[in-house]
Amino acid sequence: MRANSKPTAIITAVLTAAALLMAPAPSHPAQAETHNVGYDRYSLTVDGQRVLLWAGEFHYFRLPSPALWRDVLEKIKAAGFNGVSLYFDWAYHSAAPGKYDFTGVRDVDRLLRLTDELGLYVVARPGPYINAETTGGGLPAWLKTVPGRARSSDPNYTAAYRDWLAHIDPIIAKHQVTRGGSVIVYNAENEYAANTDPAYMEDIQRQARAHGIDVPISHNQCCDASWTPTWATGQGAVQIPGVDDYPQAFECREPDVWGTWGEGVTERLSPDAPAYAAEYQAGAIDAGRAGYDKCRELTGPKFMKVYYKSNLITSGATMFGYYMAFGGTNWGRLAQPNDVYTSYDYGAPITENRQLTANYDEFKRQGLFVTTVEPLAKTDPAEAPASANPAVRTEARANPDTGTQFVLVRHADRKTDDDQSANLTWNTPDGTYTLPVNLKGRDAKVLVAGYDMGGQRLAATTSELLTHTTAGKRDTAVLYGTEGSAGTTILRYDSRPEVEVLNGSVKSTYSGDGELRLDYEHQGLARVRITGGGRAPLLLLIGTDAEAAKFWRSGETLVRGTDLVRSAQVRNGTAVIRADLAKAGDIEVFGSASRMTLNGKHIRARTTSSGTLLAHAKGPRPVKLPSLKHWHAKQGAPETSPDFDDSSWKVADHTTTAGPIKPKSPPVLYADDYGFHHGHVWYRGHFTATGSEKTVNLNAITGKHGVYQVWLNGHYLGSAAGGEQKDADAPINENPGPGSFTVPAGLLQKGQKAVLSVLVENMGHNDDWTADDHRHKQPRGLVGAEITTNPVTWRIQGTRAEDPVRGPLSTGGLYGEREGWHLPSARTGSWPSGAPTATVQPGVHWYSTSARLAIPEDQDVPVTLHFDKGAGDYRTLIFVNGWNMGEYVNGEIQQDFTLPDGILHPGGRNTVTLAVVAAGASRPGGVSLKAAANLRGGVPAP
Ligand code: GAL
Repeated sequence: MRANSKPTAIITAVLTAAALLMAPAPSHPAQAETHNVGYDRYSLTVDGQRVLLWAGEFHYFRLPSPALWRDVLEKIKAAGFNGVSLYFDWAYHSAAPGKYDFTGVRDVDRLLRLTDELGLYVVARPGPYINAETTGGGLPAWLKTVPGRARSSDPNYTAAYRDWLAHIDPIIAKHQVTRGGSVIVYNAENEYAANTDPAYMEDIQRQARAHGIDVPISHNQCCDASWTPTWATGQGAVQIPGVDDYPQAFECREPDVWGTWGEGVTERLSPDAPAYAAEYQAGAIDAGRAGYDKCRELTGPKFMKVYYKSNLITSGATMFGYYMAFGGTNWGRLAQPNDVYTSYDYGAPITENRQLTANYDEFKRQGLFVTTVEPLAKTDPAEAPASANPAVRTEARANPDTGTQFVLVRHADRKTDDDQSANLTWNTPDGTYTLPVNLKGRDAKVLVAGYDMGGQRLAATTSELLTHTTAGKRDTAVLYGTEGSAGTTILRYDSRPEVEVLNGSVKSTYSGDGELRLDYEHQGLARVRITGGGRAPLLLLIGTDAEAAKFWRSGETLVRGTDLVRSAQVRNGTAVIRADLAKAGDIEVFGSASRMTLNGKHIRARTTSSGTLLAHAKGPRPVKLPSLKHWHAKQGAPETSPDFDDSSWKVADHTTTAGPIKPKSPPVLYADDYGFHHGHVWYRGHFTATGSEKTVNLNAITGKHGVYQVWLNGHYLGSAAGGEQKDADAPINENPGPGSFTVPAGLLQKGQKAVLSVLVENMGHNDDWTADDHRHKQPRGLVGAEITTNPVTWRIQGTRAEDPVRGPLSTGGLYGEREGWHLPSARTGSWPSGAPTATVQPGVHWYSTSARLAIPEDQDVPVTLHFDKGAGDYRTLIFVNGWNMGEYVNGEIQQDFTLPDGILHPGGRNTVTLAVVAAGASRPGGVSLKAAANLRGGVPAP
């Protein structure tokens, strides 16, 4: 984005100060270009040119398929975003202290090479704490056993996070805009508002500078300035303090309830930095288990129009991070269990299956506008047009250098869904106009006046501007408005231009003083060609909201039609288009081309009367997915048998724990204390019976929605819900997950050896939102056991081998996981036949089959694994080609599990292995592969 304004407060001074503290920056491959990144109270600047940052949040760790990162990032870019906001998840990269993995699905250098290549600015957010509904809020589980409060300047924690930053910062640093890359801002910590320690906040930044970070540093303050500190001033202050805002809250069961958490107007926290909406709500956590489609509705186009546009004009913010652009999947044990389940679809504009939604269309309408119209990056509050109807409110900003005005038109009561009209008396730089505007239902518009639009002069319009391009010497502009509403556009000329209405009904009036007025109703897509009048030719396209959503912009090339245009360019008269199509349809290119290629192949195209190039493209071929048959089955809980050999297991005999939550009495049975951080853990308690044992009283913490199961001498005693310890600060003997199990008469004889087998699931680790250490350090596994008056020797076993490819969160401690039954190399074909729909008894039951897919290479078919509802209390762990892709919990909302290409082989053999963990006799439902979409196009298969 450019403006005639001069750059101001660039950060050189700060960098010089920081450089005094800096170790020499790591050496980097020579980059062709380097740039200056600066900022002032209006916006970020790159080489002095203003940038309005319109970013969408993306979590690479929720899409374990680097090939599909390109797909999603291209979709984000095509929506008009010019940036992405990226968390880097410490827990995802670090299985143990000092161990870091940045390969394969963890190759964040590859991710940043992509953002560099695609030209998407990056706000890099490496925490160390990130929240994000990810296990531990991004703090690695091993940190639970490190003494000292996390998110403070405690020396043990300091050593730990410095090590993380020493690994992640240099990767980020080499991709900064200042070195020819894409990282434009570095965000320190995350919503650091409770129990704060300014020395820690300061040190994160000192580390970053020492590691070569030289772009501005920001912070995302929770909620509003009433949360202190805001990190705008004082020790630990950042350069660009931002604010997070979730005005719709997270209750998706009532998607029509608006503004639960306020007006959503981004506060300016610093007089010297741009107002920064660091996280602005786009989607929601599905707190009430309504399903993510309802969350998409809660944050749908009407909300986006009213809240995003109001915020744009009221706050004057020029930096935005919409949370989320694409949510993805809590595969493996990535979920923080209090808030989310396997799917992290989030109701985002791009679904978990990478499909585009109505919210995506609205993002595109707004994103193309804000990233096209340069004067928007520098505005001050301005006089708004007077509205003749008090129910219609106006508010305005203007660029002090160009005079360009931006007028917000909305209902005075923004929750109303009335239709309202008003006449606006509008003093624009080009004259005073009285123009009618309409609002249909919940709606808001941003209108533009006094704008040099390419080679044109847009005096005023009551349509909204989508975008405009200049190709050859011709301008093309797209305006839009609510279907059926009236619109007026006024353009200025030196002399009377020639106006041809090529399509639709548009009335034009030229008044002698150079003013061309077009009046119309927004209906379909009208086309007007205007030539002469002392200006470059203009093709003006005037459509409805739906028509506007059909346009794609790639550089200066405008394209209409298809379901996604990934890129478009005109090279030597050939329009080179990469696009996706769900069905056959037209592609129209607005540019001086006479030939067209689509996805690398020539396609027949003709020139239209509008001077554009039009082709008709084929859709995808139908695709049939195989049904899952020929299952093999195996029992998976030998640990319940009294004869099971657990001599290789660790003895759980610690008398103390480093964490802040101490057990009622020793030994400490917490799984993390024995190095078992993820998934299931088995315990075996050996004792000599007194014969008078009547009840076994246990207590386990699984995290929300978890379960634990108990066997005594091979006899099933039952299951209980694993606690979550509601009050994070309560001492452990508050009994968070009590289970009282009756010992059947006669099962234990005096003097006889007995063994209690307990299977405890770990649903993931709590976050540390309050920075008090109690939440994320809450133990997992058994936290209390009263069995017998005789001594008990405990042994514990969780995950056995590390999986270097899939990482620490993918494999737990079920017998089959320890033996590698979930891996494609397992010889499951030798297991007896048995279907996963058979009635099962409490325990663990494994099933495996394989399926060959033959998805055409030039098609993108996102596949899900669908679970029919079954009967009983059971949950199913899903392994596809060895990767844990989530957990189906019978009775819970999620029945479809995304299997991204890369995990899934779209043109080959796939193993599907299920571990059914039954807490009671159950009859699981059927399992099938489903296609979530079928498109011609896509990115090259992994
Ligand atoms: C914010 C937080 C994000 C995420 C979001 C809700 O408070 O910074 O990481 O947790 O809430 O989805």
